[in-house]
Amino acid sequence: MHPSFLPSMSYWIIAFILILAPTSLLANDAKFSSCSSLIRCGKFRHIGYPFWGLDRPEICGYPGFELNCNEDVLEIRIISVTYRVINIDLLRQILQVARIDYTDNICPKHLINSTFGSNLFEHNMKTQDIRLYYGCDPNSGLENLTSIHGISDQFECSINGTNIVGYYITRNTGTLSTFTSGLFGSCNNSVIIPVLYSEVESLEANRDSSTLNEVLRVGLELKWYPNSSLCVTCLGSGGSCGYNLTLGEFICYCSDGSYPQLCPSRLTGNSPLFSFTRIVLASFCKMLMSK
Ligand SMILES: *[C@@H]1O[C@H](CO)[C@@H](O)[C@H](O)[C@H]1NC(C)=O
Ligand SMILES: *[C@@H]1O[C@H](CO)[C@@H](O)[C@H](O)[C@H]1NC(C)=O
Ligand SMILES: *[C@@H]1O[C@H](CO)[C@@H](O)[C@H](O)[C@H]1NC(C)=O
Ligand SMILES: *[C@@H]1O[C@H](CO)[C@@H](O)[C@H](O)[C@H]1NC(C)=O
Ligand SMILES: *[C@@H]1O[C@H](CO)[C@@H](O)[C@H](O)[C@H]1NC(C)=O
Ligand SMILES: *[C@@H]1O[C@H](CO)[C@@H](O)[C@H](O)[C@H]1NC(C)=O
Repeated sequence: MHPSFLPSMSYWIIAFILILAPTSLLANDAKFSSCSSLIRCGKFRHIGYPFWGLDRPEICGYPGFELNCNEDVLEIRIISVTYRVINIDLLRQILQVARIDYTDNICPKHLINSTFGSNLFEHNMKTQDIRLYYGCDPNSGLENLTSIHGISDQFECSINGTNIVGYYITRNTGTLSTFTSGLFGSCNNSVIIPVLYSEVESLEANRDSSTLNEVLRVGLELKWYPNSSLCVTCLGSGGSCGYNLTLGEFICYCSDGSYPQLCPSRLTGNSPLFSFTRIVLASFCKMLMSK
């Protein structure tokens, strides 16, 4: 055996301990480790705070941001409606979702309005509410309305085995508002769903149910309130982001406990002495290897 093998081996062991210890061996805080795991489902691979669910316990995310994975489809339930998650932009805090119950047809069994609550999502300028009317009587004067911009042609479908006639309207402002509330008074039900503003033009041009179906599959964008900048700071300090359910506020889980914002730097962690030691050891190891 070459004599230089033994010293080089011990340097390797020291280097291993010093370089890896702060991130793995000392990471024994259970909350820190469980909130370090990210959500994976279908095409989604690295979903973290403010979301929780699957591998991330409730303490790792914001209330109301639980995700579920259903046969590779990432889902979120917002106020009794389940949505398919189409895209998540963690930095811009934007969620793109589409209603699951409107995936294949525009006449689901249970008619439910989309509502989002005022404390989770902010009003997004990129979406606009449309309203679907169900169970209307076309003989009550509605048939003559479909030349009006913003009112669709009638569609027909069946709910619970009953054939019904419906319409959708994309505008509900000004004179059209009072006008329509009277005219659609004959309808048995209505549902309000926001769509992307950029899709409204196509709805108004085509006025049919298949266009509506496509537009509902594109979904809508929601900007969420829980602040990503707090989490970025926490992650930058080596922590994992979470939520103190007792206090109802953000919390940063670190390998040695929980902190309100970020992990304190420790001698073994981010101190200049540690970095210096790490650099010296790394170059020493490199030197040994190149021998
Ligand atoms: C269809 O039937 C279910 C119960 O089977 C009921 O809850 C639902 O409200 C009905 N849908 C409509 C639009 O009447
Ligand atoms: C949806 O909201 C509108 C306006 O508030 C209401 O008139 C309608 O009945 C609601 N529809 C359902 C299914 O709850
Ligand atoms: C509205 O609902 C009532 C009661 O379910 C039903 O009798 C009526 O036919 C419905 N109206 C239309 C236009 O479908
Ligand atoms: C619909 O329009 C036609 C032709 O303009 C008119 O004869 C008819 O009375 C209108 N129907 C209703 C219910 O207003
Ligand atoms: C997010 O947090 C940052 C830093 O604490 C703060 O400056 C900003 O105002 C917060 N934004 C919101 C929307 O709460
Ligand atoms: C959350 O806050 C409460 C009250 O200050 C505290 O007792 C608890 O330890 C905190 N939870 C965590 C995980 O730090």
